[in-house]
Amino acid sequence: MMTKPSKSYMRKRFILSSFFFIIFLCLLAFFNELRYDNFLHFGKCAFTNISDSKNVLSNPPLNDDIRILIGILTLPDQYQKRHFLRLVYGIQTPIIGAKIDVRFVFCNLTKEDQKTLVALEIMRHDDIIILNCPENMNNGKTYTYFSSLPEMFNGYSYDYVMKADDDIYIRLDKLVESLRPLPRKDLYYGFVIPCDSMDPFVHYMSGMAYLVSWDVVEWIRGSDIPRNHLEGPEDKVLGEWLKAGRRGLNRHNTKYSMYNYPDPNSKCSHDFWPDTIAVHLLKTQEKWIHALSYFNVTQNLKQSKLYHIP
Ligand SMILES: *[C@@H]1O[C@H](CO)[C@@H](O)[C@H](O)[C@H]1NC(C)=O
Ligand SMILES: *[C@@H]1O[C@H](CO)[C@@H](O)[C@H](O)[C@H]1NC(C)=O
Ligand SMILES: *[C@@H]1O[C@H](CO)[C@@H](O)[C@H](O)[C@H]1NC(C)=O
Repeated sequence: MMTKPSKSYMRKRFILSSFFFIIFLCLLAFFNELRYDNFLHFGKCAFTNISDSKNVLSNPPLNDDIRILIGILTLPDQYQKRHFLRLVYGIQTPIIGAKIDVRFVFCNLTKEDQKTLVALEIMRHDDIIILNCPENMNNGKTYTYFSSLPEMFNGYSYDYVMKADDDIYIRLDKLVESLRPLPRKDLYYGFVIPCDSMDPFVHYMSGMAYLVSWDVVEWIRGSDIPRNHLEGPEDKVLGEWLKAGRRGLNRHNTKYSMYNYPDPNSKCSHDFWPDTIAVHLLKTQEKWIHALSYFNVTQNLKQSKLYHIP
């Protein structure tokens, strides 16, 4: 039969577990200092009391990586396009000091077959975000995208969030290079509209691929200004929210590093050149291939006896 534990037994147990807890905190502090100070303060732990140890637990994260979410807005049925874009982004070499997540974003599934096919993709690639909305282009999908993110990612998660079309090729290393010197707060970044303007405060950034900082994402989620103004071209509407809310006041114009495909010639297009962050309006396979070969994307294919590509 079990007897009720005595008071002194409970007290001993409490002292014992407190003791192990303090040892644990000491170890934690010790390993932290190993990482930070290379043994310089070795030995300090003996004197570290509980209130000091708390600070150890709340040290800021070690890395200062730029964290970017690229949401490519597309449609559930665009399986081939997603497959292709996964190849294009999957082969880009990881960038030191940056963490980039490319995600495909669409609204509610509407067909039976999508439930299986999209679920298969998620099981294999886990790179899909399904928003709670009926599929639409200029009727609030962008709003749902941005305003859903804080909850989806449990509050803070990325420095920047991009909205991109599915017919744009983004060179991720060039993107990161251009973002490094820029503020991480209150940023609105992209290709200035109208096409012949260089002033990022006149109008808005083209929907080909624009980016805002996370605080702007949170503002979109919380403010009434976007909620009450959903209809219209999504890029223009977003520019109007920011204007009305006086947000995104750090502006960066990516012209002429972002542009439309050279053909047809227009004020928004120009020839490929090395200083390119993104090329838009890649509407055909031929245009994609032209871009990928210009940027030497397959140059590093490794030699093997298993294949021969001239
Ligand atoms: C323990 O922490 C308190 C509050 O930070 C401090 O005042 C005290 O001097 C510390 N004691 C030791 C032994 O470090
Ligand atoms: C989207 O789908 C979810 C469940 O799959 C449903 O609860 C929600 O009402 C749908 N939303 C719209 C806007 O159709
Ligand atoms: C692609 O490679 C060629 C040959 O090595 C080089 O001349 C050219 O500058 C490269 N293009 C780009 C955009 O890096």
